[in-house]
Amino acid sequence: GAAELGPYRHYMQKEIFEQPRAIADTLEGVEGIVPELFGDGAYRVFQEIDQVLILACGTSYYSGCTAKYWLEGIARIPTQVEVASEYRYRQSVPNPRTLVVTISQSGETADTLAALRHAQGLGMTQTLTICNVATSAMVRECKLAYITRAGVEIGVASTKAFTTQLAGLFLLTLALAQAKGHLSEADEAQHLKAMRHLPAALQAVLALEPQIISWAEDFTKMENALFLGRGLHYPIALEGALKLKEISYIHAEAYPAGELKHGPLALVTSAMPVVTVAPNDALLEKLKSNLQEVRARSGVLYVLADADTHIENGEGIHVIRMPEHYGALSPLLHVVPLQLLAYHTACARGTDVDKPRNLAKSVTVE
Ligand code: G6P
Repeated sequence: GAAELGPYRHYMQKEIFEQPRAIADTLEGVEGIVPELFGDGAYRVFQEIDQVLILACGTSYYSGCTAKYWLEGIARIPTQVEVASEYRYRQSVPNPRTLVVTISQSGETADTLAALRHAQGLGMTQTLTICNVATSAMVRECKLAYITRAGVEIGVASTKAFTTQLAGLFLLTLALAQAKGHLSEADEAQHLKAMRHLPAALQAVLALEPQIISWAEDFTKMENALFLGRGLHYPIALEGALKLKEISYIHAEAYPAGELKHGPLALVTSAMPVVTVAPNDALLEKLKSNLQEVRARSGVLYVLADADTHIENGEGIHVIRMPEHYGALSPLLHVVPLQLLAYHTACARGTDVDKPRNLAKSVTVE
């Protein structure tokens, strides 16, 4: 009811603003990286596996896509991420030395559970879930688990569940890196310090809300939007586009930034804003020529820039500079302005933000 909403207009807004607390709770009690964070027997499992297969749906799938960059870049473990409903119905080549990781807010999504059982049926018994509901089927059926502490999420469009999943997946990355001998004590200490700083860093990003509201005023009039990202932030662009679609009903799609010239540039007009996520100076160099092409077509850029970039606001280019440079944890911070952009755009369009048409919070039937 309204009382629980406090100063917020919708559960989604409340849940976006709860993220510093949700991340702090999810990381509470993590003193150091030990396999047991994921349950008894995790040490053996981590020794035995040499690849990771992530299965999930929706927003949880995008947290998996982000984790692939960490798992391959930091833990050096080959990682595959697959939409659960695709995996369960295709012929794949099972490898028993795979750690099967399911990611689910509810722990009850039918396709994700079926994909897990399918993998188990193929002889892959090393299973782990990153899940927000400790009593769920997913947690019962997986050997290992990390329970995120987002708390109850009511908005259909997932926000705090996503960032807490990322926190859990980053811990998993560090634990696997350690098991595989790719994590020095100095690196461990540095990563843990960065994780502990996340609540304060998130708070600073939430303070950007007024700037996002002014972007949302422009988006309200649009029917299409394009999101670009690169590397770790490509899945964040995907998630930003999903959020906008889900609640504002604006058609949005995301592309890896380097693919702009291979297709979506043809769509750019003054009616197609282009959101670029987290450009650093190197990405900006590449974007500059694209930018001219976007400008030549009257396209307008909305840039979420890294703290240390030199890009400035100008004609046809709107820049929001992030408060800091966040390193590997950058996706957790960059997704927040995109959540707020979707939220404020949807509010301005008068949609039912917490219960978007045709969508359900938890899809427990196929
Ligand atoms: C539905 C929800 C999404 C969610 C997806 C997966 O589509 O609307 O917000 O990401 O299911 O749900 P799960 O509970 O498995 O994370």
